Amino acid sequence: MFETISSIMLTVAMTLLWGIAGITAAGLPYAKTSRSLNHRSTFLLWVAGTALVISTAWYGTITLQLIQDGWLFVEGTVKMLVPLTLLPQLYIGGAILPRLKSLRISGGEPPTSAALEAAAHPSILLSFLAAALASGISAFGTVFAQPVLPGLYQVGYRFLLVALLLLVPAMFANRRYMKVKKGIPLRRGLAVRLLKLVFASILTIIVAIAILVSNVLVGVQVSKLPEASDMMNHDWIDEGGGAPTRMSGSSNHHQHHAHPPSDSTDSADPSQVEVASLTGDISQPADRTFELVAQRKTVTLASGAVVDAWTYNGEIAPELRVKQGEMIEVKLVNQDIDRGVTIHWHGYNVPNAMDGVPGMTQNIVKPGESYIYKFRAEQEGTYWFHSHQQAAEQVVKGLFGTLIVEPKQETDVIDEEVILINHRWETDQGYQKAFGYHDQFQWKQVKPGKNVKLRIINAHNLSEKCLLQGTGFRIASIDGMRIQDPQPLSDGTTFRLAAGGRYDVVFTMPDRPVFLKLGDAKNESNPGVVFYGESVPEKPIFQAETTEFDPSNYGRPVVNDVTAASPFDREFHMILGNEMGFYNGRFHFLWTINGEVYPRVPTFVVKEGDRVKTTFVNKSLGEHPMHLHGHHMTVLKKNGKKVATPWLTDTLNVLPGESYEVAFIADNPGMWMDHCHNLDHAATGMTLHLMYDHVLPSYEVGTRSGNLPD
Ligand code: C2O
Ligand code: CU
Repeated sequence: MFETISSIMLTVAMTLLWGIAGITAAGLPYAKTSRSLNHRSTFLLWVAGTALVISTAWYGTITLQLIQDGWLFVEGTVKMLVPLTLLPQLYIGGAILPRLKSLRISGGEPPTSAALEAAAHPSILLSFLAAALASGISAFGTVFAQPVLPGLYQVGYRFLLVALLLLVPAMFANRRYMKVKKGIPLRRGLAVRLLKLVFASILTIIVAIAILVSNVLVGVQVSKLPEASDMMNHDWIDEGGGAPTRMSGSSNHHQHHAHPPSDSTDSADPSQVEVASLTGDISQPADRTFELVAQRKTVTLASGAVVDAWTYNGEIAPELRVKQGEMIEVKLVNQDIDRGVTIHWHGYNVPNAMDGVPGMTQNIVKPGESYIYKFRAEQEGTYWFHSHQQAAEQVVKGLFGTLIVEPKQETDVIDEEVILINHRWETDQGYQKAFGYHDQFQWKQVKPGKNVKLRIINAHNLSEKCLLQGTGFRIASIDGMRIQDPQPLSDGTTFRLAAGGRYDVVFTMPDRPVFLKLGDAKNESNPGVVFYGESVPEKPIFQAETTEFDPSNYGRPVVNDVTAASPFDREFHMILGNEMGFYNGRFHFLWTINGEVYPRVPTFVVKEGDRVKTTFVNKSLGEHPMHLHGHHMTVLKKNGKKVATPWLTDTLNVLPGESYEVAFIADNPGMWMDHCHNLDHAATGMTLHLMYDHVLPSYEVGTRSGNLPD
């Protein structure tokens, strides 16, 4: 963050200084006397010198960031902005400044024709303007389009931009130079000069507008989403530097088209499988059956605020509770959600065909239709489910619930369990956060000495800080995965849940009240819980926060197949950035992955069994809870350093300026989404797909099918 801010300040300063230098240089050949030419040249030398010092400081900042944060943080800047600014500045330093020095001759007489000719040389004006434009592009880019992994096109485009914007000034400067060369005196009148300046500026603005308009036209066209796509676009794949996969060859499945699962005879290669057939073994009868009816429902929160919600079963967050090992069957019925619905089991590593992603693992369930999900509950823990059709709208409106899988054998003694699922509702009284129905504090009596387990789930688009005070506590699980030997955390420790993330928190009820709330202690409108023993406290009182919980140093390190020191088969990068641009033909503030938005973010292709590493680098100005379907990720490094206790997560919050290395084993074949769980970010393209190379699509995404899985 510090580097970003100083980069912005330094590049803005460079732009201003080079701009001033440009304007001064434009007036250079109008000097009436040697003395005034001397003064102007001296002024230019000072301005240019200062600009060079500042840009050196900027390059220093970039170097610092390289040392601190690593190459991935600076790669885009180094490849894209450094050459752009360095080139004109090197030229100025090497060729222009010595010439300006030679113009410093004192005297009241008119400058010699040789001096005037040197002063009028177009290279002076143009190199200053080029430096100003390059700095301006760098400043703009640092704020609105962090350069990431640039291709030749991105680098070339910026050079072209500078060249085009210099066209008009070049014409003017050249004409003037010709005049001076031929000895024709320049018209010195201020009005004439001003007029010329205005004229040149207008022409340049016309060029700029032409560039802008063509950019918009191209942007609108290029960003339009295809009516139908089936994830088999071979132009946009990333094999993570590993061995070539079947996707890289130009084999017959390039022509493969989406078709109903029954018709799988055109697949020439018997080792290939279709998504629809990846159901896992569901031959056994179900131990538990549920029905979830997606329906519009007006619900009333505890405070009386009313929400026009879209729900499962007319409830806020209905609970599915099963035992580990049970075969569960969930019938989804769509009563009246027009655009169709699905159920995605967030964080639960079901077989691919049960993952609930429209257009990838199933078709949407339209009004009047139903669909059956069946899988064995292999993992215990706290999970949730939600519709994955237009999730930025449907989840926000309430299409979600909780999935609690109790362990085969509970090793901890838990007397009291509370599920707290946080969501932000649009009510008739404005936006309000709530744990389930409780948009205010709820009060719970618990006998001192009893063991309490909180299953906290964050179903909101942004991360949430939690305060739990009045007792020490332990964090027993993160994202459904148990922490081994979690040590006690002191009273006052805060912890932060990623959007989509879950924490299980346990404590023993003391003989004084315990308070829990979301957000800062001062924030009165956030929901919370008061746990009390005998006497009811008047109101929750929160102390100052002490430390923030750090999962990278807690409990015992996870030991699994990816923490072993063997090499990875594939290594992917996800550079998270922001950009002004277009999505599906409309202007947006975009959140990008590797400089692109879906569907242009290359699909990560793996082979079954691969050991896969992914590096997240957040260069953008917002947090991104990165969520991979179908696999838990083991966090190995944070900000370039090995974490003390690798831990498992399915939704990792990556803050601006942070980087993480995570790894997983490709052991769940299929097509999986990998996206930001700020669903608004996902809806404008902060999404990519993880694809096993032997898996063929069964469905299609797009407006033709109505499958819109954001
Ligand atoms: Cu909870 Cu792809 O999402
Ligand atoms: Cu995001």
